[in-house]
Amino acid sequence: MNPQRRQLLQAGAASLLAAPLFVRHARAADVPRFALGVASGQPRADRLVLWTRLTGIDLPPSVPVQWELSHDEAFTDIVARGTETAEAAWAHSVHAEPSALGPGRWYWYRFSALGQRSPAGRTRTAPADDAAATLQFAIASCQRWDHGHYAAWRHMATQPLDLVMFLGDYIYEYPSPPDALRRVDGPLLRTLAQYRERYAQYKSDEALQAAHAAFPWLVIWDDHEVENDHSRERGQTLSGAAFQALRAAAYQAWWEHMPVAKAMRPTFSPAGPSLRLYDRFHWGRLARIHALDDRQYRDPHACPPLLRPGGSQVIMAVDCAELQDPQRSLLGFEQERWLAEGWDLQRPWNLLAQQTLMARLSRQAVTGPNTGEFWTDGWDGYAPSRTRLLGAVAERRVPNMVVLGGDVHAHYVADLKLDFDDPKSPVLASEFCGTSISSHGPSQKQVNQRLRLNPHVHHGRGDQRGYIGFTLDERALQATLMVVDRPNDATSPVRADVRFAVEAGRPGPQRA
Ligand SMILES: [Fe+2]
Repeated sequence: MNPQRRQLLQAGAASLLAAPLFVRHARAADVPRFALGVASGQPRADRLVLWTRLTGIDLPPSVPVQWELSHDEAFTDIVARGTETAEAAWAHSVHAEPSALGPGRWYWYRFSALGQRSPAGRTRTAPADDAAATLQFAIASCQRWDHGHYAAWRHMATQPLDLVMFLGDYIYEYPSPPDALRRVDGPLLRTLAQYRERYAQYKSDEALQAAHAAFPWLVIWDDHEVENDHSRERGQTLSGAAFQALRAAAYQAWWEHMPVAKAMRPTFSPAGPSLRLYDRFHWGRLARIHALDDRQYRDPHACPPLLRPGGSQVIMAVDCAELQDPQRSLLGFEQERWLAEGWDLQRPWNLLAQQTLMARLSRQAVTGPNTGEFWTDGWDGYAPSRTRLLGAVAERRVPNMVVLGGDVHAHYVADLKLDFDDPKSPVLASEFCGTSISSHGPSQKQVNQRLRLNPHVHHGRGDQRGYIGFTLDERALQATLMVVDRPNDATSPVRADVRFAVEAGRPGPQRA
């Protein structure tokens, strides 16, 4: 063989061997490993949770991920660092839990792995339990990808907030309709891989990433993280083992993508998965925040539609005696007891972060017992459960209880009472239900009719997307209902629409 040909062959063999390796390395190094951004959550006075998830091809089964937490944005004053192992079995998610932190202060954090560094996020601890405090926060819910853009998040990320409460419907399980504004990939969600892909697509949104990176979040789920209108034991299309398998996949994917503690990782049994979501948080000596789970333990819906295993409908009270059954619960009796025994009688405020509208919202005139028309998925579908909750608030004289909710894709501001039809029934608590980030809402004509039939509801807008911003101090809660001008435009302005206030010691929102 002549030397030239041997050289050529050697070069060829070398390139055959080397090229794929080289290409693979080049590709791996270029693939963004932190494409879903960073997040933080569950702030306590001494600790919080930092989250990310590694992305891209060729991830080994387990990857060490370094994290660091700093007093300053330039990361010159590092206060804590550590290493977590991102495992394929948990979608290479990272849940780091720095502890022994100083109370009531801001921190910056970032991750590094596989030669790349994540964007930095900003977070904070809660004030010390006995410290005077103020709290600026926002509530948000229902961010259906194919219904609108996330201008609300883009705006919120620029606001001076301490905390975001996300109250459910982080993803939706449906495939996109043909005329969707922006399409989701994939079919109706049925498998762990599909849920993971859906979270990854939602989390690819820059505005959502910015809102996560700007503040710590408290997150709870509602139905669409699993399937529309599900209960403890059935969805609207599945029941039995098939529903429990679906719920297990959905719980796992939720945990993998949320800034929540490692201890909340779901456990699985043939009877179904479990993930303890409900919990309490303190904001100095200002407020106790109770985060509820109205999905995992709820009894199946009253009077489900014919030909479906479960799910909701709107039904006349006279046609559904089950609506008044005291044996049924929205929270499950264990969580009901936990809440009734856990009201804070010392701090001036009790904030109840939960999924949906608590105020009675009849669609037909209520003219006496067993009249009116109700949606069976909300608190109206479990009225005795609501009566027990508000009864405990009245009996224990819980100071300044404020219910925060979402789910119904409309802004509602309401008084909460034991008897919504008795004008003399005292106002026990205040309610702010925030509209959706992007999911379509009811028509304003429908909402106006409901306002006429339910005088304890002071304000309702189904035609607005947005969120609610709050400022809380010892004397008052100020609420500003924020509205996206053009929900189909990612760069739309967001404006303050109306304001309400609750004075400490005087339950019931007043227009401000
Ligand atoms: Fe929703």
